[in-house]
Amino acid sequence: MTATLIDGKAFAATIRARVTQEVARVKAAGITPGLAVVLVGKDPASAVYVRNKGKQTVEVGMESFEHKLPADTPEADLLDLIAKLNADPAVHGILCQLPVPDHIDAEKVLAAIDPAKDVDGFHISNVGLLATGQKAMVPCTPLGCLMMLRDHHGSLSGLEAVVVGRSNIVGKPMAQLLLGDSCTVTVAHSRTRDIEAVVKRADIVVAAVGRPEMVTGDWLKPGATVIDVGINRIDAPEKGADKTRLVGDCHFDSCAEVAGAITPVPGGVGPMTIACLLANTLTACCRAHGLAEPEGLTA
Ligand code: GUN
Repeated sequence: MTATLIDGKAFAATIRARVTQEVARVKAAGITPGLAVVLVGKDPASAVYVRNKGKQTVEVGMESFEHKLPADTPEADLLDLIAKLNADPAVHGILCQLPVPDHIDAEKVLAAIDPAKDVDGFHISNVGLLATGQKAMVPCTPLGCLMMLRDHHGSLSGLEAVVVGRSNIVGKPMAQLLLGDSCTVTVAHSRTRDIEAVVKRADIVVAAVGRPEMVTGDWLKPGATVIDVGINRIDAPEKGADKTRLVGDCHFDSCAEVAGAITPVPGGVGPMTIACLLANTLTACCRAHGLAEPEGLTA
């Protein structure tokens, strides 16, 4: 392996330490930042995420409000809860864990969250603010990717960036953020012709397609920085029958031979997402109370 490893786990710990410091400053002004997380149903992966979010929220000194609702909760009841959280001055951030059960319209739920408390950055007001280069709440995963890229490169100005994947949660906001930092941005997707040649132009590759090990080393320009957002579980017969392992959207070993720097899976982008959720909650709290926003924790 020749690439530098970008250690998301260690970087996320430094972000949490910054957030902890800043939370102490805000508390000294008599305000405790609060994050409400809503989980509908018992999806095991979502339950793990929600537990981790609550734990880390408390660890940085913020207040955590968990609302676990049964899977058959009527949409109207969920919207009532969100209205209550919108009105609650102790709550500065609201996150409704996705996916929600089929009988609930996720877009309606996201639209019901006060944009000022929308720490996921999924409300269309925040999407529009980000797209027009205004102060927004920014989705946590792309914000974490941006922080790692800024930390590694310093300025991103003028660099060629290719985002592979066009989801609303990662690909599209990632492209907006890179544009905001003056990259030349291409968004590649399943219909892109000669995607290998497109990726080969990139100084920065952000892979967020959800296809295990799709990007291989021969797609990369030598020295490129690779940010792998994918988390895919695949069979690992080499570890024994019925064993699995986690891989990204990039084939790590071949990419690490060509890239200048690369994030591992696990331990790359993943830990940054919750760290950025905490940063967003702090930012929302500072904005709500007219306090100075901490530097380096927003786009
Ligand atoms: N489910 C998986 N990732 C996320 C996320 O970032 N935010 C929310 N609300 N739900 C998710």
